[in-house]
Amino acid sequence: MSALKLKNNFPLAPYTTFKIGGAAEVYFEAESKQDLIDAYNLSQQRGWQFTLLGGGSNVIISDRGINGLVVRNLYQEKKILQENEKTVLLRVSSGYSMSKLAQETVAEGLSGLEYQSGLPGTVGGAIYMNSKWTKPESYVGDCLQLAELLDNSRKVKTVNRDYFQFAYDFSILQKTKEILLTAAFLLSRAEKTALQERARQTLEYRRQTQPFGVFSSGCFFKNVNGKSVGQLIDALNLKGLSVGNFSVSDKHGNFIIHKGNGKIADLKKLIALIKTKVKKKFNIELEEEVIFFQ
Ligand code: EPU
Repeated sequence: MSALKLKNNFPLAPYTTFKIGGAAEVYFEAESKQDLIDAYNLSQQRGWQFTLLGGGSNVIISDRGINGLVVRNLYQEKKILQENEKTVLLRVSSGYSMSKLAQETVAEGLSGLEYQSGLPGTVGGAIYMNSKWTKPESYVGDCLQLAELLDNSRKVKTVNRDYFQFAYDFSILQKTKEILLTAAFLLSRAEKTALQERARQTLEYRRQTQPFGVFSSGCFFKNVNGKSVGQLIDALNLKGLSVGNFSVSDKHGNFIIHKGNGKIADLKKLIALIKTKVKKKFNIELEEEVIFFQ
């Protein structure tokens, strides 16, 4: 195993979109498949907790930071595995930017990922969460054909789409804690202008309905039985509600904005307040979509 460039007590907040949280006890930037494998092996040998960070767009790290090894996934690779007149099987590394991939595939006239346009985060994160779009309903898992995973016994295995048990906000990786190394998407050749227009409308809808240029983690809570939690929070007039340096976005009720220098304790108070009000009015128990590292 090559010697890994590890850093101790490394601040993580800059690598999250919420811009909050303490340091990684040990930190490493993986730039290849082998880096990911070596880092995982090392964490097992040393008995360190292993945490893989993608684009940091759906995570909230506590003020205390994260114990053990935190690996930031910067593995960038893209390769056509097969192609014919109708389809292209494109293999992409897990550290690849999802919005970049959406943009590139649309530009090539390849359909399948256009509704991921503007999505922050990596391919790995998008598959872990089965990132979605609602207009029309579309999930990143829909066009996944094959994937390479590093399993808990440190073996690399190839699995197909069914293995992931994709559902709303769910893939099996959340349970197995296996590490996605690469994903192969089956994309279909499409008329470029129509495809570009779909991608443009997706981006425009995001811009019009969701906050931009602020510190947030995307939607904070999972929708409930297809009901927009943003709409429920909005109906309760909670937009703008603040605790400390956190507030409910004025633009979309399911986004919490961090105004900077916030303390997790205040965020938790705001979450509890929202949950209590939603429970009281709608008898719905909200569940976080964002992942907390405490
Ligand atoms: N609405 C309101 N007020 C609000 C927010 C929404 O009235 O504050 C209404 C909208 O006007 C619309 C309906 O609620 O009629 C649905 O809103 P939207 O299209 O924004 O969809 P959503 O269900 O609130 C989901 C995903 C988003 C995804 C959008 C668009 C979840 C938790 N959220 O939001 O995903 O971008 O659909 O496809 O599933 C994310 O995962 O981080 C995320 C933002």
